[in-house]
Amino acid sequence: MAQFELPDLPYKLDALEPYIDARTMEVHHDKHHGGYVQNANKALEGHPELKDKSAEWLLRHIDSVPEDIRTAVRNQVGGHVNHSLWWTVLGPHKGGEPKGQVSEAIDRTFGSFEQFQNSFRQAALSIFGSGWAWLVVRPDHSLEIITTPNQDSSFMQGLTPVLGLDVWEHAYYLRYENRRAEYIDAWWHVVNWDEVERRYQAA
Ligand SMILES: [Fe+2]
Repeated sequence: MAQFELPDLPYKLDALEPYIDARTMEVHHDKHHGGYVQNANKALEGHPELKDKSAEWLLRHIDSVPEDIRTAVRNQVGGHVNHSLWWTVLGPHKGGEPKGQVSEAIDRTFGSFEQFQNSFRQAALSIFGSGWAWLVVRPDHSLEIITTPNQDSSFMQGLTPVLGLDVWEHAYYLRYENRRAEYIDAWWHVVNWDEVERRYQAA
């Protein structure tokens, strides 16, 4: 059995319309995420000693991953982990405001949900080229907004992601073309705060 597998989408391809269109979801999930999974498996093939390691473990221990596959793990396993989170923090009939413990932590850290949204939006807009904006939990359980280039995972810095925004053009170009800000503003309508809360409590 392959080490990593492409997870099924937890909803239909058109479930996030009109905010994220079905064709983008299809190409993004099947081709892009599927490609990361395939390439991650290929990279790990020659390293049976890492066969029982999880994707998250490999990223958290990226410095101890053999040098010949370190870049591939960073990019391909990173892409797999980032997208596995991505599908779950989205959902139909979601959006609105966060709830529960993560909501309290957001208010405490950023002042209000609105201030958090502004900072997160700015972070996502500031990314040059491809990358991700993240809400992460530090080891002391405090929250922070960070960005990572390419498919770098926050796990490589010991930070647990609870919400991520994919600003690779493959995530939005079909519908939004170059209008990243418009995509970001639409994206809030499909954020699954129940999942963010679950991840926050598990972090
Ligand atoms: Fe993506």
